[in-house]
Parts: sequence; structure tokens; C-alpha cells
Amino acid sequence: MIKRYQEAFMAYLAEQTSAKEPKSLYAPTHYILQLGGKRIRPVLTLLAADAVKGDFSEALPAALAVEIFHNFSLVHDDIMDEAPLRRGKPTVHEKWDVNTGILSGDVMLVNAYQCLDVYPAKLFSELTPLFSRTAQKVCEGQQFDMDFPKQDVVTREAYLHMIKYKTAVLLGCALQMGAMVGGLSQEDSQPFYDFGIQLGIAFQLQDDYLDAFGDPETFGKQVGGDIIENKKTLLYLLALENGTEEEKTALTTLFASQPANPKDKIEKVKAIFIATQADKKIQNLIEDYTALALEAVNNFSISPEKKAIFTTFSQQLMERKL
Ligand code: IPE
Ligand code: IPE
Ligand code: MG
Ligand code: MG
Ligand code: MG
Repeated sequence: MIKRYQEAFMAYLAEQTSAKEPKSLYAPTHYILQLGGKRIRPVLTLLAADAVKGDFSEALPAALAVEIFHNFSLVHDDIMDEAPLRRGKPTVHEKWDVNTGILSGDVMLVNAYQCLDVYPAKLFSELTPLFSRTAQKVCEGQQFDMDFPKQDVVTREAYLHMIKYKTAVLLGCALQMGAMVGGLSQEDSQPFYDFGIQLGIAFQLQDDYLDAFGDPETFGKQVGGDIIENKKTLLYLLALENGTEEEKTALTTLFASQPANPKDKIEKVKAIFIATQADKKIQNLIEDYTALALEAVNNFSISPEKKAIFTTFSQQLMERKL
């Protein structure tokens, strides 16, 4: 079912990509966009348009806008997180250099907006403010993410706000843009955005879980990257909430360090996550947010058959390994 949307999107992406000069600017943009990835955001845009209109072809440019924006954010995110691997391959700043990553990322952000130029004036004037609002929130969330490692206290609420902004709003935007291209007003497409928020929170919690406990063979990113960077994810917060005094001291001490060889630190932190059952608790929260997403699907004004595809998609995301 989902494959059909992925394939249509990939065909459109190939059609829209042309070799441009200077190669040093565009080769990295092609590299990252062709590197694969799950394509969940463009699929959500197409699914929403199809659910509303029974046709998704007009939503392909919006889907591409969202996917290019996502890939731009990953190129810059990998610089900020000092990440060596993305989708099983070297990150852009590793393969080229940081300056290349900055400018190639910038041009992708511009290209993302240009995808929307094809829409009629009225629709365009509704899509771009949504896209801009979303992009601004992503930057805000990303900055909170960068600030947390230096902060002594991060609350669960602050963490949830951070992931809502850095990740969930883009899923919401992808869905709402699809629904709007499908013909719904801003107001009537709001339930699609709300669904995306809950799904996006579950999605980022799962990303955080996999960052620590994923299989290095299949995950495609450096396992333990968040631990190396002292990211105060929910795993960390849950471990502090539930740990013994000894575990809490050990964890905060480990998160104040940045050893040259992080192997031992990663093993010790993961052992504390397991001992405090943070790994189990985060799984429960992923299920809770997925359940909230499924409730939101009920508010869609579409047929039960069409709702089922969103339900299946959400459940499949929860079981993902990459
Ligand atoms: C990675 O997103 C960044 C997050 C918001 C967690 P994805 O996990 O969707 O990355 P790709 O596009 O499938 O590689
Ligand atoms: C990424 O969050 C969110 C954005 C790109 C804005 P992460 O830093 O957790 O994403 P990954 O794990 O590198 O894909
Ligand atoms: Mg990252
Ligand atoms: Mg990051
Ligand atoms: Mg991550």
C-alpha cells in the first residue's frame, strides 16, 4: 500500500533532479536525496491528499518540498551532532567538508520553497505560511536540543516540547499540506496536523530509543551518538526519575564526560538505561503517543477504509528498526 506512494514520489524526485553547476554545491544535495531514507514525510503528504481527494498527483510538489526540507535539516543536523553516518553512508560534512554541508544545506532550503511555486496563488498563499511556521519551529526545537546538554535540569515537559518542535511539526505540516492540496481549508485540515504531532512525538521517541538500542548493522546511523553528545533524551530523564542515588550519580557523571574513546561510556549508560527500566518505559510512551495518533485519525472526515491506511502506517512506524 505504502510502496505505491513511495514509488510515485521517487519517480517524481528523479524527474525533478537535474545536474547543475557548480557540482561542488549540487553533488552533495543529490547524494543526500538519493541516499534513501524511509520517505515517511512525503508519503504522509501523498496519503493525506489521496484520502481527501482520491488522487495524489497534485501533492507531489508539496511532498518534495517537505522531503527536501527534511534532508536540508539532516545535513545541518549532522554537522551540529558531529555525526559520521547517515543512512549507512558517510554524512555530507564527512564525505566533503563542513562548509560544503552548510551551503548545500542552504540551497536545499531554498529549493524546498521553490517546489511550492507551481501551486495556484490562493493555495500557494496558504501553504507557504504553514511551511514557514513549521520551519521556524524546527529551528527552535533544534536549538533547544543543542542547549540541553549544557543545562543541569531538563524537565520532561521541556524535552517533549523540544521534540514536538524539532521533529513532530514537520510531520504535521507534511500531512496538512497534503490535505490542503487535496482541497481542504486550513481549518478543516487541522486534524491531519494534530495527528502528525502525536505520530511525530512517538517517532522521535523511537528514534531516541534506536539511537541507543538499535542494531548497528541496520540502523544506518552511529549507535550511541546521542550518548556521546550527552543528549538529555527521555531515556536519560526516565533513568534519572527512576534510578537509585548510585545510578543517578553514575549517569550524571558519565554525561559530564566526553571521552576520546566512547565505547565504555556507551556501554555503561545503556546498562543504566536498562537497570532503571528506562528502555521499557520509553516503549510504553511510544505506544501511548501512537495511541493518541490513532485517536486523532478518528477525527478525519474520511471513510473508515481510508482511515485504516493511517492506522496501519502508524503501527508500522512503531515497529521500525531504522
Ligand atoms: C531522522 O528522520 C530525523 C528525525 C527527525 C528523527 P528519519 O528517520 O525520517 O530519516 P530518514 O529520512 O528515514 O533517513
Ligand atoms: C533531528 O533529530 C531533528 C532534525 C533534523 C531537525 P536527531 O538529531 O535525533 O536526528 P538523527 O537521529 O540525527 O536522524
Ligand atoms: Mg542528529
Ligand atoms: Mg540532532
Ligand atoms: Mg536521533
